Amino acid sequence: MSIELKTTPGAGERRGEPCPADLLDPAEILTREELLDVQLRRLRSTLRHAYDHVELYRRKFDAAGVKPEDCRSLGDLALFPFTTKADLRDTYPFGMFAVPMSEVRRVHASSGTTGRPTVVGYTDNDLSTWADLVARSIRAAGGRPGHKVHISYGYGLFTGGLGAHYGAERAGCTVIPASGGMTARQVQIIQDFQPEIIMVTPSYMLTLLDEFERQGVDPRSTSLRIGIFGAEPWTEEMRREIEERMDIHAVDIYGLSEVMGPGVAQECVETKDGLHVWEDHFRPEVVDPITDEVLADGEAGELVLTSLTKEALPVIRYRTRDLTRLLPGTARPAFRRIEKITGRCDDMIILRGVNVFPSQIEEVVLRTPGVAPHFQIELSRRGRMDHMTVRVETRPDAGPEQREDAARLIARGVKDGVGVTVEVSIVEPETLERSLGKLRRVKDLRTA
Ligand code: DLL
Repeated sequence: MSIELKTTPGAGERRGEPCPADLLDPAEILTREELLDVQLRRLRSTLRHAYDHVELYRRKFDAAGVKPEDCRSLGDLALFPFTTKADLRDTYPFGMFAVPMSEVRRVHASSGTTGRPTVVGYTDNDLSTWADLVARSIRAAGGRPGHKVHISYGYGLFTGGLGAHYGAERAGCTVIPASGGMTARQVQIIQDFQPEIIMVTPSYMLTLLDEFERQGVDPRSTSLRIGIFGAEPWTEEMRREIEERMDIHAVDIYGLSEVMGPGVAQECVETKDGLHVWEDHFRPEVVDPITDEVLADGEAGELVLTSLTKEALPVIRYRTRDLTRLLPGTARPAFRRIEKITGRCDDMIILRGVNVFPSQIEEVVLRTPGVAPHFQIELSRRGRMDHMTVRVETRPDAGPEQREDAARLIARGVKDGVGVTVEVSIVEPETLERSLGKLRRVKDLRTA
């Protein structure tokens, strides 16, 4: 299967200062060969640990006829079976933990959209590694000891808030644990406490931006210099929108609870060219989501991650469902990058036979004059045909003519760029649902 990833090539034009050498972790300056040695050693011990302590892994390895010692090279990882979200659900809540419960210091859970949540656990060492990697990510984003970090990722079972929190503390920053919600108050706190950094979902950043403007505060005048955005897909167009409206660097952080939480991969502020996977702790592969075949670097497919140091919940070849490709390292030469993730296998919409990702609609909406960066996709059935309506908020100052032009431009942009006909409806300002964390852009009425 060939997957076309529609991302705008090229990074944002603004570049930040690279992390000074004395603030890099020793692992960040390994050569590729040294890093691969570390990976193989850690991979072999993770496979052993998983096989010896998790019944599900033992069963799956046995069924596939592989033993941990069959992994003699990194390529041998492909001999081992995949792990999926369903495995975690089937062993709910703690069945995949590889250490006694007395050694599990914290759990998190992801709600998922259907069925049971997936529960993940951390030992003391796991929590420490996680804090180290988020701290490393914050430095790669341009954060320095002494910076104040405003955290608007939700605190609680979601890994965003606490993950960012302990990482920012580990980086020697001052944490402002705002969590999500109470938007007006967040703006007040940013005005009063003067943080340099904000960590938040990009969609909630837009909500905060509107609130700045509602309160008569010019978002470009705030103390914020860096935004570390993740937990949901966002496009280069969104980066440009946020950077220009706020006069900050917008960089991308990636992670998922099953594999750790935020800080699995991070974009460097001096290059803004995709996210370096912290390969001393995670071994990435990209596979064809249909045939499961491992793809060569540079080819687009589903990201699969294997943890290399996790104790409480080792994950072997976890199918993330996230679509990307592996690229060579740049700002951290030994660490491969993943291309900015703009879609998941499961948020791909098949509209009259054409594959459509919400991020492709985002690209078109955000480059259209006269409309706000707020849109929603609604899928419905008209007779036997699937129908997509894109609702987009107008900017308050746009007149009727500009609104009509915008609707036409968006419909044409989607037709030309994506290849499908959609209905575009321009709606009044402040009428679409706002994000308080991760935004659900697609409303599917087809099964209702
Ligand atoms: O979203 C962890 C996280 C928190 C990452 C804060 C970054 C910042 P989950 O709730 O388990 O964990 O959701 C993981 O979110 O598989 C992706 O589909 C998506 N995702 C996370 N980061 C990005 C990103 C957290 N930078 C799922 N770009 C992942 C695109 C992302 N999608």
